[in-house]
Amino acid sequence: MLSNIELMQNVKSLKQIDVKDKRVLIRVDFNVPMDAHHNITDDSRIKEAIHTINYCVDHEAKYIVLVTHLGRPDGEIDPDYSLKHIIKRLERLLDKKVDFVEDFINNKELVLSSGNSKIILLENIRFYVGETKNDETLSKELASLCDVFVNDAFGTSHRAHSSTVGITAFVETKVAGFLLKREIDAFAKALFKPVAPICLVVGGAKVSSKITLLNNIIPKVNKIIIGGAMSNTFLKALGYDMQKSLVEDAYLEEAVKILKNAKEAKVNVYLPVDVVITDDIKHPIDVKIVPVQDVLQDFSAVDIGPATVKLFEEVIGMSNTIIWNGPMGIFEIDRFSKGTYRIAHAIADTYAYSIVGGGDTANAAEMAGEKENISFISTGGGASLELLEGKVLPGFVYLEKSDS
Ligand code: 3PG
Repeated sequence: MLSNIELMQNVKSLKQIDVKDKRVLIRVDFNVPMDAHHNITDDSRIKEAIHTINYCVDHEAKYIVLVTHLGRPDGEIDPDYSLKHIIKRLERLLDKKVDFVEDFINNKELVLSSGNSKIILLENIRFYVGETKNDETLSKELASLCDVFVNDAFGTSHRAHSSTVGITAFVETKVAGFLLKREIDAFAKALFKPVAPICLVVGGAKVSSKITLLNNIIPKVNKIIIGGAMSNTFLKALGYDMQKSLVEDAYLEEAVKILKNAKEAKVNVYLPVDVVITDDIKHPIDVKIVPVQDVLQDFSAVDIGPATVKLFEEVIGMSNTIIWNGPMGIFEIDRFSKGTYRIAHAIADTYAYSIVGGGDTANAAEMAGEKENISFISTGGGASLELLEGKVLPGFVYLEKSDS
């Protein structure tokens, strides 16, 4: 029987079909971060999709419709989330003109009359209330624009929405784009037949959001490094007084269970031995490095300390496959970013196959200047987390199979 990851790898790729003179609709994920003035602060998701779009142009598709969401406008038209803000960047990266269609349902002719491999970007699909409800009418409207559906939105493939799943019921040819294939192949390399020793580096604020991941991954790895605020919960569960640090008291028992499961599976778990603490996270006056036994009264742990960095560096250096999901501290604040950056450097310095989950962790790797030195950085935050949790993502399920 195929494993979940093999099932997802087995989707038909765009390369396996002929798009000449076909009307192609590509679901991309251009949900990119922007500053308050709508300047794109990280365009990786657009860059990574360019190959798929250009392939359709080079292979003379009749036209190429791009569909994406931006933010969570909840079915309302909100100018802050308009895709107008990304057209220029998209045109520059493609080096081609892109047509923009605001209300495709009432302006269908604008799309249907296009030719010559024209690229058309539809307005934010989440301006339609039906999108996140996987509404059949909206799915049919989208399907009426195309002969071929290409899913290249890895970052949204954990969502069963009209433009990721619903549409596939009404289009005969539905395949994976190159970004989607690259992502699943990269995760397969780390999770399915990886080279041991395999090390998971996990961090972030909450244990609660990583329990499924930890329980799923224990049988697949040799070592687990736990940092970030979530390690506070483990440390408290082991009897340390973490004072004002963020701790999820409701998950203390769960933390003990995870440590027990890991021990039974002979998986070594590494927790911080020292931490950076502060009297005030937003306006720190007093910042100190202390052993985890000595967190001062009314102080909070905000980063891993130098002894922990050394310990984690050694474990990382001995690994042949590294999966990293979650920062080691509040790296968005300069003073508390050292631990996360040092771990990014340590991972980048190994000869291991290293894969970084999207969202915050990808951002941390980029801010550490190590983006080019990590084997694979995912464009998916929630999607990569669900993959590590062992789930089959709906965005893959309804595509054609490669061997069908
Ligand atoms: C993401 O940024 O993780 C994806 O674009 C999905 O966005 P969502 O969490 O709003 O569905």
